[in-house]
Parts: sequence; C-alpha cells; structure tokens
Amino acid sequence: MDHAIQAEGLVKRFGKTTALDGVSLSVRTGTVLGLLGPNGAGKTTAVRIFATLLRPDDGHASVGGYDVGRQAHQVRQLVGLTGQYAAVDEMLTGTENLLLIGRLLGMPRPAAKQRARELMSDFDLAGAADRAAKTYSGGMRRRLDLAASLVGRPSMLFLDEPTTGLDPRARNELWALIRGLVAGGVTVLLTTQYLDEADALADEITVIDHGRVIAAGTPDELKAKTGSQKLVVRPEDESHLPVVTSVVAELTETTPEVDGARVTAPVTDPAVLPAVVRRLDDAGVLVTELTLRGASLNEVFLSLTGRPVEDETDSESEGRPA
Ligand SMILES: Nc1ncnc2c1ncn2[C@@H]1O[C@H](COP(=O)(O)OP(=O)(O)OP(=O)(O)O)[C@@H](O)[C@H]1O
Ligand SMILES: [Mg+2]
Repeated sequence: MDHAIQAEGLVKRFGKTTALDGVSLSVRTGTVLGLLGPNGAGKTTAVRIFATLLRPDDGHASVGGYDVGRQAHQVRQLVGLTGQYAAVDEMLTGTENLLLIGRLLGMPRPAAKQRARELMSDFDLAGAADRAAKTYSGGMRRRLDLAASLVGRPSMLFLDEPTTGLDPRARNELWALIRGLVAGGVTVLLTTQYLDEADALADEITVIDHGRVIAAGTPDELKAKTGSQKLVVRPEDESHLPVVTSVVAELTETTPEVDGARVTAPVTDPAVLPAVVRRLDDAGVLVTELTLRGASLNEVFLSLTGRPVEDETDSESEGRPA
C-alpha cells in the first residue's frame, strides 16, 4: 500500500469552534509526516480522528486502508498513540506501566514482562525501571510514554508534540529514538509547533492553521518558500543601517526588515553569510552581531500567511500543562 494514512476533507466542529475545516493529507507508508501548526490549529483533533478517538463531522480518513469510522477496530490494531500529555500512571513504576499495557493488549504475562524489559532497556530507562513514574524527569516521562505506545509493536505511530517542553538534549535523544523506529519500518504522523523538528524528522510537512492546510511539501520545498534561516546583522554604528540594509537586500534578494538596530532577512543559501562579511568589511562597517538562525514558526507563518501566529490567550486552554 502506497499511503498508510489518508484524509479527505476532514471537518470537525466543537460547538461554535471549527477545529478542522476541510483537511486533506496523506502519509506514505514507511515515512514521517510532520503536521506543523500553532496552538489551536487542529493538530490534536486530526490525530484523535486518525486514532479513532473522535468522529469527523464530514470527510473521511483511512489508516492502513481501513476506514477510521467503519473499521475502527482494525485501525486500533495497527496504531500506537503518544498523546500530547503523558498518559502513564504516576504511581506505577516504568516497568509496571508497560506490563499493564501489554496485559491490556492481551499478551500472556511472560511475554508482556519480556516486552516491558526490552523497551525499558531500549529507551535507556532500565536504571529507573523500579521507580514510580512520578519520580521521572520530563525527558524520561516522554521516553516512557513513547515506549508505552510501542508495546504492541504498531506499524503506525501518532506522536502528538512528542518533544514539547524538553531540553535540547532530551529532545535529541527522543529524535534519535523516533528515527530508529522509522528505520525499522514504522510510519509516523508527528505533530509539532517547531519547524526545526519537522525539518529534522519529517519526509513531508503539512502546515495547518485554523483547521486548514496552508502549505504542504517536503521540508526543502517549504524552506525554499519561507527561507530556512534568518540572517541577523547589527552594525556597531546605527548610521550604517542603510548600507547594511542595501548589502543584505542585494545578497539575499529580499526586502530586509529593520528591527531596531538590527537588519534581518530570510536566507536559503548559507553562502550568503561569508559574502555579507566580505561586503561589509569592504565598506568598513563593523558589526556587533552577525548570525544565521533557524526560521521560527512565526517567521514561517508570516511568510506563508502574511501575518504572525495569533495569540491564543483569548481561547480556552487545553487542560493540564505538559
Ligand atoms: N473537546 C473540545 N471541545 C471544544 N473545543 C475543542 C475541543 N478540542 C479542541 N477544541 C478546539 O478546537 C481547536 C483545535 O484544537 P486542537 O487541540 O486540535 O489544536 P492543536 O493544534 O492540537 O493545538 P495545541 O498546539 O495547543 O495542542 C481549538 O480552538 C480548541 O480550543
Ligand atoms: Mg494539540
């Protein structure tokens, strides 16, 4: 089968809120789709529909060739879900959590025990196997949560913001685990608010906002559209701002923004940086800051939609924090 996950025109309303407003997407078997979007975009709603936890009001979706509405039972056999908020039992140890899931999946006790031990070791949790999950750090909790979704050896994984709130090291560790699963043939639908995460893990990215797909393509295609990186230059002397702006404009072929004493512009070709250095040096301009940094989600949104990510403070929050 070519596409492990497919959706056509998904619509989901909660009262007056339209969480999904006609979302279509597809995930090729054995690949990772990054579903990228800001708070409230509809990411979790989409994942819950694919996981058969929620029924769409319109449109249809299939997972592994099975319809999520009519064949929910078959879909559940294929899928592992790691929710946005860790679903482990705080009072149980890591091993007990995995054992419980194995038993709920109908595995005989010795097999469930063996699988729990295997996963605790694969996920570098063996040292904490006999401690209550409530004593785990955030990174350990996320690893346990991922392990929990793998007890039944699913061929498809839904990961809802798996690294939100993790420090860079824990995030890298989790990325490595996810890459390992993909190398083993698992198809992954991953939601994230971070462009760099989607870039690091996904074969293709679908960007959603207000329940609608606003862009889709490979990370490279998306970055070419939005500028993968941002060049930031701050001249020592503010009177040099016009020179800096014109050099940056010429070399990046964009219209730079001047934000206070800084000039910023999207960059797709990293060779721009040394060229900027040479040109400013020739012009006798000293700088106190000259950096290339990854485009933020906000910048991606700005270039895709012409407006920044909205502040979600006015809408209801989604329960307990991660
Ligand atoms: N059970 C629900 N009842 C009412 N409204 C809901 C419910 N679930 C989601 N919503 C609303 O639907 C919209 C999409 O929510 P969703 O949780 O899918 O967004 P998200 O992209 O996962 O956001 P986040 O990044 O904050 O997790 C939001 O406006 C949200 O408030
Ligand atoms: Mg969510």
